[in-house]
Amino acid sequence: MIRDIVVYPDRRLKKVSVDVEKFDAELHTLLDDMYETMVAKNGVGLASVQIGVHQRVLIINVPVERFEDQTDQPKDNTIEMINPVILTKEGQSLQQEGCLSVPEFFEDIERYNAIEVEFFDRHGNVQNIKNDAFLAVAIQHEMDHLDGKLFIEKLSYIKRKKFEKEWKKRQKEK
Ligand code: CO
Repeated sequence: MIRDIVVYPDRRLKKVSVDVEKFDAELHTLLDDMYETMVAKNGVGLASVQIGVHQRVLIINVPVERFEDQTDQPKDNTIEMINPVILTKEGQSLQQEGCLSVPEFFEDIERYNAIEVEFFDRHGNVQNIKNDAFLAVAIQHEMDHLDGKLFIEKLSYIKRKKFEKEWKKRQKEK
């Protein structure tokens, strides 16, 4: 089921999510709904807080190219992370980011280039992945959501002011 995305400045995005304790059918439904919602909204990642569920759950699905400019996000490619913890991090650089909760706004954000993450899968098994580039950035972005943080909070004071001004203007135009 496609769920509604919580959009900035909704206060629910600021709430810290809690660890998942039961790896049951309810969790599986949540994960399946998150996948459907993310694909419907053309996102590459989603944290459950973004659909108003404050649990430490996130998903990422990096689109694969099919034909020329068409991309696809098969469900089997979805990385599901429950209660993720970053073990190691390396290097830092600026990468462009966007967010379904801050639609149509993109900005360069400083992130670690490579990270190692430990997490549970939907069945409660411990998993560990080490990755770099786009996936590492996506994981860091989604993990911030679990702590009630948005990527725009990492902007410089001036860029943040500019964003708030643009955002207000856009809300009025709607
Ligand atoms: Co986001």
